[in-house]
Amino acid sequence: MSTSAQASSSLSPRQLFVTTALPYANGNFHIGHIMEYIQADIWVRYQRMCGNDVNFVCADDAHGAPIMIAAQKAGVTPSAFVDNIAKGRAQYLDGFHIKFDNWSHTDSEENHVLAKEIYLDLKKAGLIETKSIEQFFDPEALEGKGMFLADRFIKGECPKCGAKDQYGDNCENCGAVYAPTDLKNPYSALSGATPVLKASEHFFFKLSDPRCVEFLEEWTQDGKLQPEVANKVKEWFSTRTNADGTTSTGLGDWDISRDAPYFGIEIPDAPGKYFYVWLDAPVGYLASLKDWFNKDGPKKSYGETRTFEQYIAKDSNVEQIHFIGKDIVTFHTLFWPAMLEFSDRKVPKHIYVHGFLTVNNGEKMSKSRGTGLDPLKYLGLGMNPEWLRYYLATKLSAKNEDIDFNANDFMARVNSDLIGKYVNIASRAAKFIQSGKLAPVKTFGTSAPLVQNIKVFYESREYGKAMREIMTFTDEINAVFDNAAPWKLLKDGRADEAASIASTCIQSFKVLTACLKPVLPELASQAEIFLNCGSLSWSNAVTPLPEGHVIGEYKHLMQRVDIKQLDALFEAPAVVETAPQATPDKASTSAVSIEPLAPEITIDDFSKVDLRIAKIVNCEAVEGSTKLLRLTLDAGEGKTRNVFSGIASHYKPADLIGKHTVMVANLAPRKMKFGMSEGMVLAASSADEKSTPGIYVLEPVAGAQPGMRIR
Ligand code: 2FM
Ligand code: ZN
Repeated sequence: MSTSAQASSSLSPRQLFVTTALPYANGNFHIGHIMEYIQADIWVRYQRMCGNDVNFVCADDAHGAPIMIAAQKAGVTPSAFVDNIAKGRAQYLDGFHIKFDNWSHTDSEENHVLAKEIYLDLKKAGLIETKSIEQFFDPEALEGKGMFLADRFIKGECPKCGAKDQYGDNCENCGAVYAPTDLKNPYSALSGATPVLKASEHFFFKLSDPRCVEFLEEWTQDGKLQPEVANKVKEWFSTRTNADGTTSTGLGDWDISRDAPYFGIEIPDAPGKYFYVWLDAPVGYLASLKDWFNKDGPKKSYGETRTFEQYIAKDSNVEQIHFIGKDIVTFHTLFWPAMLEFSDRKVPKHIYVHGFLTVNNGEKMSKSRGTGLDPLKYLGLGMNPEWLRYYLATKLSAKNEDIDFNANDFMARVNSDLIGKYVNIASRAAKFIQSGKLAPVKTFGTSAPLVQNIKVFYESREYGKAMREIMTFTDEINAVFDNAAPWKLLKDGRADEAASIASTCIQSFKVLTACLKPVLPELASQAEIFLNCGSLSWSNAVTPLPEGHVIGEYKHLMQRVDIKQLDALFEAPAVVETAPQATPDKASTSAVSIEPLAPEITIDDFSKVDLRIAKIVNCEAVEGSTKLLRLTLDAGEGKTRNVFSGIASHYKPADLIGKHTVMVANLAPRKMKFGMSEGMVLAASSADEKSTPGIYVLEPVAGAQPGMRIR
């Protein structure tokens, strides 16, 4: 247990403001998100059982170029896009019994106001400066409006090994790290156009200022971070060698602005300049809390009613705690505390960092691609969410190590621990309780030390240790039951002794239920009904139920995991037969990662898109572009159309000439560097083109004629 936790628990009840990282609002949750939320939810439930006051909030991280572009592709405004994603959140959170007090988004009014206030306070403190920097600009992106390109939107040939289609910051083929300007033949991943270098004024947060350095050197090393995280962060203050061989000295200033067009918060007195998404994202923690106060009213704290401003004031006793993954440590241990400190706000008390979740020894659950264990599929198969909560709890510790979900281990843990040990105690003991009334109990030690240890483990996020100690106790209780053999006592006419043993086990079952309650809230609530004991907390966990207490009828508390469910959960994804003639260099069959469905539309929405059969009467390479092919399409209109398509890496012009395809016929013409594009041809690709490469232009079954509408 951390000493600070012990120290703060002397202030009773503790006031806790707890968050998890705000997920980007451009996709559904994957199992990595769910793991983080479960880790935090267990901690929050544990705290509430201590009687502490907790405000537990999260929000959608709504801003940034990727969301703006995804919205544009979907043909909706970024706000509508984010709203649609938000609608899908509850099924996951409710499904896995994750109970946030509030869920907001970072495009809220509260966040706009707070982010600007914090920025202006930092400016007043002399920590904002502007510099002109040169960046790649795509003149054709966003229908010719043009935009500066983030590294992930620039591709080209690796300057070291020459591999094609590498991102702007590193080569996936040889591992080289470089600047986007080092790429050979760079192109915009958005439009295919060749980007140009353009200067623009950017706003910087002066993290290199001696005040920031001094504050952060202290803040990051005084017990707020896990030791392994603090050690890593320490390296960032000294001179180091980067992956590309260059050296960096200490903390650098942080570029906090992006140029329009950008979906974000406009910087005060700087038209056309927006906060970089990572500036306003953590402010979203505070904004969601404010939104919660607005909805729920001021909070009682140490006998006083506190407004949002009082609650979160620098000198309030609130402990601000963020649960995050190890990939976003920099933002939470440098930028965020410095933003808060130098805008004269409360700084976080702890940042709790977890590792990644792998599945069946598989790959990391990345943000963009949640392969392996689909949370909605899990729920859809009728699998109990508390199985997953328990299994993750057995694996989680205070360290930021990666953990693996192993299907066999999962089944063994749940079936053996929860059903075979814990539930078994109630199910076997209930049979020997006479008329539902508890008999006087035999004492065999006290449960108080167990509960004390379990609390320490929860407080310090050592859930694995807690689960092991709980299961050791279930073994002891089951052994007491086996040794006393109440079924024999009953045969020998010693029913009272049998009832006494069974009652002893029921009393222990109550203690165990309290210990498991943060992890298994629903199971605990069923067990509380069976025990007829009211709501369990740490204060009543070890208090025995009185002699003669009437318990409820025992109903089976939990099903076993069925191997068939796991087989279905990890069933190989749909296998798509590919067209070998189109991509002779690729395998003819590949497993495709199926991306989540887009938000539901009506038939009227669909009818707005006019899809026509078109014949590809000509197809040619585009000089100056490695990505585009120029297609001449006949859609039965008495004239042909010129359409550019980013399929050059997958098709030779000769492969396509003479074929029929499907064209979006009512798409507004688009001016591109190489000419007007008067439509779009449809092609299929996997959600993750890197693991399942290929673009497949659609071709109708023989007989379809140019101009026919697709409905
Ligand atoms: O990495 C991410 O998914 C970010 N959206 C996390 C933001 S956490 C906080 F700062 F808002
Ligand atoms: Zn390379």
